[in-house]
Amino acid sequence: MQGVFITFEGVEGAGKTTRSKVLQEALSAAGYSVRATREPGGPPVSERVREILLDKGLDLPPVCELMLFLAARAANVEMVILPWLARGGVVVGDRFTDATLAYQAFGRGLPRPRVEAACRFAAGGLVPDLTVLLDLDPEEGLRRHAGDGRPRDRMEEAGADFHRRIREGYLTLAREDPDRYLVLPGDRSPETLDELILRRAEEVLRRKNGSRDQ
Ligand code: TMP
Repeated sequence: MQGVFITFEGVEGAGKTTRSKVLQEALSAAGYSVRATREPGGPPVSERVREILLDKGLDLPPVCELMLFLAARAANVEMVILPWLARGGVVVGDRFTDATLAYQAFGRGLPRPRVEAACRFAAGGLVPDLTVLLDLDPEEGLRRHAGDGRPRDRMEEAGADFHRRIREGYLTLAREDPDRYLVLPGDRSPETLDELILRRAEEVLRRKNGSRDQ
């Protein structure tokens, strides 16, 4: 039995958290042993780092920001993701390395080869089996967020150009790795999105002979 790692990516407000929950429930109902994670986040140390990263009161230079995302990831990979995969489970992650490339390399402008090398080190070379990219105009995403009444965090406040570069960055990454990526327009109906995502996830699970009834 081989574990399967599925990630969701997209600009702020693209809907990944909601779509990811629907997928988790569908896979659990089908008998898979599913674990959800989010980045930055996961084990207590990573959740603490998340608070620093999203704190509007802190000024974080780009390299410092990068290293904090990777510190959170290193703990999440070692303490949560790898042990679950090793038992043949399915991990559904809300963001992973692609987010670091989109935000810190394409968004902040850090040199991509260095960011990639640092990401490989932090994640021990772990690459998702499937990455669902919910593509959406970032203006629309931020508008959706504005409707939920929650105050904007440090990343959401970073400006329209920054978020446009991130969207383009994600689309570039997806073009470079079409086998791993499923790119879907984030403004399609939730039912359509959920069906397409589940179908692709099942294909990947079958291909990897994923885990049923742990
Ligand atoms: P979330 O809003 O999806 O929970 O993600 C937290 C924020 O952190 C979001 O603005 C995306 C950003 N982020 C990065 O800039 N780099 C990363 O490596 C990750 C995982 C998230």
